Amino acid sequence: MMRIDAILSRFGYCSRREAAQWVKRGRVTAKGKPVRSASDKAEPADVLIDGEPVEAMNGLYVALNKPLGCTCSHKEEGELVYDLLPARWLNRGNGVSSVGRLDKETSGLLLLTDDGAFVHALTSPKKHVPKVYEFETSAPIPESAVALFASGELMLESETTPCLPAELEILSANSGRLTLHEGRYHQVRRMMAAVGAPVVSLTRVAIGSLRLADLQLAPGEWVEIDPAIFS
Ligand code: URA
Repeated sequence: MMRIDAILSRFGYCSRREAAQWVKRGRVTAKGKPVRSASDKAEPADVLIDGEPVEAMNGLYVALNKPLGCTCSHKEEGELVYDLLPARWLNRGNGVSSVGRLDKETSGLLLLTDDGAFVHALTSPKKHVPKVYEFETSAPIPESAVALFASGELMLESETTPCLPAELEILSANSGRLTLHEGRYHQVRRMMAAVGAPVVSLTRVAIGSLRLADLQLAPGEWVEIDPAIFS
């Protein structure tokens, strides 16, 4: 059981202080009856707000098709990935963050959540959730990159450990698909630059079994997902 004012603020509807007004205006019911006081307690599952169940009561899990030019940050200037989500979600008590980051100039599949354990589970190298990227390069991709990336011996500049083995598929002279099992800073761009084929466009097409193509999202669109697909 939670206090009604705690429910309203925890799930981003209004502040605890504003909750009294929401209750007074009859916007909140519990088990079908209007709530009388913001200090009343109820199970979130029994509560309706403006006639609707509490949103994403068991955690918020979203797949976004990140457009080019927006940033995975809460702080930076310019367009942020968070601007693409409903404002109410950003007021949720637990705070919404992205699961890892994509560069400003990378598009594609980005997960966002208010569940810190989910972020950890998906970003921890121990879990080895594969991330798949497709890219184009400004120079032909050398065949030798396939074996080098698979070897687990590629050492990137200013790193102290080599990259984990990664699967490179050469799709055409200047395009490829790379599957990574870790997430280092600008990793795809740095790996491709290391073999003389700088990336000119980059998109993430899958995380684990979740494929962007199956979600049918235009750039900037998002959909709620079931986190169980990653367990
Ligand atoms: N690798 C990159 O270089 N950039 C990204 O955004 C993700 C992976």
